[in-house]
Amino acid sequence: MTRKKPEELRSHRWFGVQDLRAFGHRSRIKQIGFDAPDYAGKPVIGIINTWSDINHCHTHFKQRVEDVKRGIFQAGGFPLELPAISLAEPMVKPSTMLYRNFLAMETEELLRSHPIDGAVLMGGCDKTTPGLIMGAISMNVPAIYLPAGPMLRGNWQGEILGSGSDVWKYWAELRAGTITQDDWDEIENGIARSAGHCMTMGTASTMTAIAETMGWCLPGASSIPAPDSNHPRMSASCGRRIVEMVWEDLKPSDFMTAAAVDNSIRCHLAMGGSTNAMIHVVAMARRAGVDLQLDRFDELARQIPVIANVRPSGKYLMEDFYYAGGIRALLKQLEGELSLDALTVNGKTIGDNIADAKVHLEDVIHPLSQPIKKEAATAILRGNLAPDGCVIKPSAADPKFLQHKGPAVAFADYNDMAARIDDPALEVTADSVLVLKNAGPIGAPGMPEWGMLPIPQKLLKQGVRDMLRISDGRMSGTSYGSCILHVSPESGIGGPLALVETGDLIEVDVPARTIHLHVSDAELAKRREAWRPKPVAARGYERMFAAHIQQAHDGCDFDFLAGTERLPEPEIH
Ligand code: FES
Repeated sequence: MTRKKPEELRSHRWFGVQDLRAFGHRSRIKQIGFDAPDYAGKPVIGIINTWSDINHCHTHFKQRVEDVKRGIFQAGGFPLELPAISLAEPMVKPSTMLYRNFLAMETEELLRSHPIDGAVLMGGCDKTTPGLIMGAISMNVPAIYLPAGPMLRGNWQGEILGSGSDVWKYWAELRAGTITQDDWDEIENGIARSAGHCMTMGTASTMTAIAETMGWCLPGASSIPAPDSNHPRMSASCGRRIVEMVWEDLKPSDFMTAAAVDNSIRCHLAMGGSTNAMIHVVAMARRAGVDLQLDRFDELARQIPVIANVRPSGKYLMEDFYYAGGIRALLKQLEGELSLDALTVNGKTIGDNIADAKVHLEDVIHPLSQPIKKEAATAILRGNLAPDGCVIKPSAADPKFLQHKGPAVAFADYNDMAARIDDPALEVTADSVLVLKNAGPIGAPGMPEWGMLPIPQKLLKQGVRDMLRISDGRMSGTSYGSCILHVSPESGIGGPLALVETGDLIEVDVPARTIHLHVSDAELAKRREAWRPKPVAARGYERMFAAHIQQAHDGCDFDFLAGTERLPEPEIH
């Protein structure tokens, strides 16, 4: 393997030459308090840190970044921390999804505009993983991903609580009157007990596992709980490894291959991962030049069952998954299905990295021969209601809704739904199909996680806990139920979902992968003539978003950020 020479470092153009500009760069580094032995001829490592005061999942990043720096110094590199938008999932409105591409663009431009030779990407809370990685793929300097790790299990009166999943569960029970307000207040105190991302198989756990399987992490990194002492030690290891990656010139383009992407989808399916992954993995893969289509998820879902017994598909939480052997143990179970020669950031193959992995708790990570559900983690449906596809997670749905025909109860948007869903006069039965419009990338905007529509209160009181629900929005990976999501094209641009009216019959057949609106073409054409789009923002980021966002089946990247073309290096004048 040829190793880079110091004068071949990207940062050499800033610090290593003798001219007026380099004088300015060096004198200003000295102003910070560093001297030539700190930085001269050394790989400069940008640490893109998504810490902020409001990101509850990344509270430990203030300390972890010091561990990363320690590792970088140990290996002879020079760390520079570059903060980026932190995207705290529930805090950012209308949705962090509005800003995933913002983070991707920020990551690429932070790396491109500064004297950076390699990057440590610090993320974990939902959109931070794809955002950071999309930007790093496009920049294509050596980069390693440091996952935040899941938080500890929640606890309420001795009962184990899972992020999101148990919020939805007990919120329904509160509305049904089966728990008290005091119970609910106690749950609020016990459900988020430490730093770290959601500890169910939500989007965070899904995406960090995907990132590791794609090759972006040190072996096992994505499963370590945030407060575990293995986490700071892994962080320092990331710091040491990125310095070596710079000398080796090991870049994302060396490991982000079609085989690595397929491996990551297999991991996602075996984990019973979040439906959100389908949007993010398409966007990540296409940035790397892998022409991933939505149907690939369906093809692989027919081969890979859910084997991680983790909520919401299963019983346990990510802390248990770690004790069971973590992601390496899960991938070991998939060994016969993976491309084992796919390269990873430690310079070894995924096959090398899982060679000695073992499952320690067999009820948490099952063998492929004993899946935890017979239903797949993912199915892609098409039909006149979703010509470009939509998504369901059969493993999280009541099986009786996988073949269902019922009358629509249509809501024009979220506010309409919120105003009417608990109205005792709402004409709805357990067989109705709840339809939410204007929850898509442009219609909402930002495609929020509104897809797990609440069950109407009067049905909750009758004991109903699941219904067929359809929207062009997303749902949290911690959610569950018979929710059809990501309908494309979305209603906000006049997709067929926009034309659904209350009383229309909708038929879903998951085994046949179809979704059909039983309304004649002539009637739909008449409704289309009368349809008008909602106005988009007059100015600002939302204006740009509406003009450039792609639809869900294309990964919701901005059209001007998508693609594989590298931007030129900045001139240094
Ligand atoms: Fe950050 Fe769930 S809120 S991962």
